[in-house]
Amino acid sequence: MTLLEIRNITKRFGNFVAVDDINLDIKAGEFFTLLGPSGCGKTTLLRMIAGFDAPDSGEILLDGHNIIDVPPEKRPFHTVFQSYALFPHMTVADNIGFPLKMSGKSLEEINTRVASTLKEVELSQFADRYPHELSGGQKQRVAFARGLINKPRLLLLDEPLGALDEKLRENMQRELINLQAEAGVTFIYVTHAQNEALALSHRIAIMNQGRIEQIGEPSRIYNYPVNRFVADFIGKINMLDATVIKTSSSHLTLKVAGLGEVTVPARDGIKVNDRGVMAVRPEQIRMVAQTSEIADEFQFTGKIKDFFYIGDVTTYIIDLANSTRIEALLPNSLPGHAKLFEIGDPIIVSWQEQSAQFLLN
Ligand SMILES: Nc1ncnc2c1ncn2[C@@H]1O[C@H](COP(=O)(O)OP(=O)(O)OP(=O)(O)O)[C@@H](O)[C@H]1O
Ligand SMILES: [Mg+2]
Repeated sequence: MTLLEIRNITKRFGNFVAVDDINLDIKAGEFFTLLGPSGCGKTTLLRMIAGFDAPDSGEILLDGHNIIDVPPEKRPFHTVFQSYALFPHMTVADNIGFPLKMSGKSLEEINTRVASTLKEVELSQFADRYPHELSGGQKQRVAFARGLINKPRLLLLDEPLGALDEKLRENMQRELINLQAEAGVTFIYVTHAQNEALALSHRIAIMNQGRIEQIGEPSRIYNYPVNRFVADFIGKINMLDATVIKTSSSHLTLKVAGLGEVTVPARDGIKVNDRGVMAVRPEQIRMVAQTSEIADEFQFTGKIKDFFYIGDVTTYIIDLANSTRIEALLPNSLPGHAKLFEIGDPIIVSWQEQSAQFLLN
């Protein structure tokens, strides 16, 4: 069921178009993420949904009714910011209970609901502390609890984990998924961290320069990016300049710089002479020593140029013919081995046809 509809929303600052004619449907119960580079308009869009800013044109519908003229405090939404925005002079319990106090609930109801919310976010023992006595992760949990206590229809979150270190971020990501599932509240989540978006979301909208490039489930966006921007923004990907020389219902034949003719799965709307890139993810590339036999459709000889050991995986930089360079990613499944190949080793790289795709420039 659709909860929120965003229809042709545009926002300008002077002559600059920060949000450019965006359309979106958010389903009830969904964890929906806006992902894009700094300055692409994520916060601007979120602020219009919250009601802090008015769009120049377009409509925002909640349950089918336009809410453009409804002030932010009358919208059944709550916003959580990166900076937590906790009240420094109030205890954890008072911070969490604040929205209930504002909506005029009785002291008794406030106390009961704060106690149960504190339990949910595992902060019961911190009820009487002040924000400056908490860690970053604990402060963020208080902010989530305050966001959820009023059971908003929609929780808007703007980079809520941005200030936390890597390990804590991962823990909080898991907590967020659980919180969202338990509370049954619809989330619109803003981030420019692609891993976070992939890990958390039911669906992601990839934004670029005020527009949406692609909307879809994480695995769909990762595996089938619609264009070069999306492919490049989500994860790492090898891109080699390519021109389409033949099309059929199942394949595109490409002329790829340095590699010659390569086929990739067909894709709608692509014509002969279209220019773009052949794209393959590093983890889809296989590497073996040049003496081995392999069965993959596409194989090319090359030499290891460099490698980067990152603990769980090693990234290899490989020089192919015509100084074409690609990256391959191998898991480090053998303990005690930082790498399986040495710099200068002659190798064969290969991939299966279905791993590669053609993307327009
Ligand atoms: N009040 C404002 N006046 C003028 N320009 C603004 C204003 N608010 C935002 N902008 C501009 O609009 C664009 C989008 O800003 P926005 O804050 O929405 O980006 P963002 O995607 O949230 O970026 P980040 O990831 O850095 O938070 C930016 O170029 C920004 O400079
Ligand atoms: Mg922002």
